[in-house]
Amino acid sequence: MLTAIYPGSFDPVTNGHLDIISRASQIFDTLIVGILENPQKKEYLFTVDEREAMLREVVKGISNVTVEVFNGLLVRFARQKKCRVILRGLRAISDYEYETQIAITNRKMSPEVETFFLPTSTEFSYLNSTVVKEIARFGGSVRCLVPEIVERRLREKFQTIS
Ligand code: PNS
Repeated sequence: MLTAIYPGSFDPVTNGHLDIISRASQIFDTLIVGILENPQKKEYLFTVDEREAMLREVVKGISNVTVEVFNGLLVRFARQKKCRVILRGLRAISDYEYETQIAITNRKMSPEVETFFLPTSTEFSYLNSTVVKEIARFGGSVRCLVPEIVERRLREKFQTIS
């Protein structure tokens, strides 16, 4: 049985994340989507509970995907879960440098854990959560970029904030 962890901030989950989750769920026996809580990082738009609820909603139809929150080092979380694979999506070559740096650092700390990269589908290669929040903040449509529940939550969030 091969389990992978797909870690991230997911602030919020986008169609690009969902593309990776659904493709990876067909490769690995189990996929754990790991949401980093990180209370030190105050600039999240959504609380960890909100990010978790949105993720649970969008993956509920995929039976081998679970959603969990973690704190601290990713490799420690992987060890706790007895998981040897970390999965990261690669959008463009610009992601490569940062991602390999993190992958090598993680491997130094935990040589038994390997990082796998999956290239995002081309239609999502420009997409990230920051862009989505920026568009939504100024009232633009994010319909094609995020699942419906996230679109709704973004609308509610910016109505609350403004
Ligand atoms: O969606 P993101 O913000 O690009 O995800 C980054 C994440 C959560 C994968 C990364 O920040 C992480 O693993 N943080 C946990 C702390 C850690 O283990 N850092 C790696 C060693 S430098």
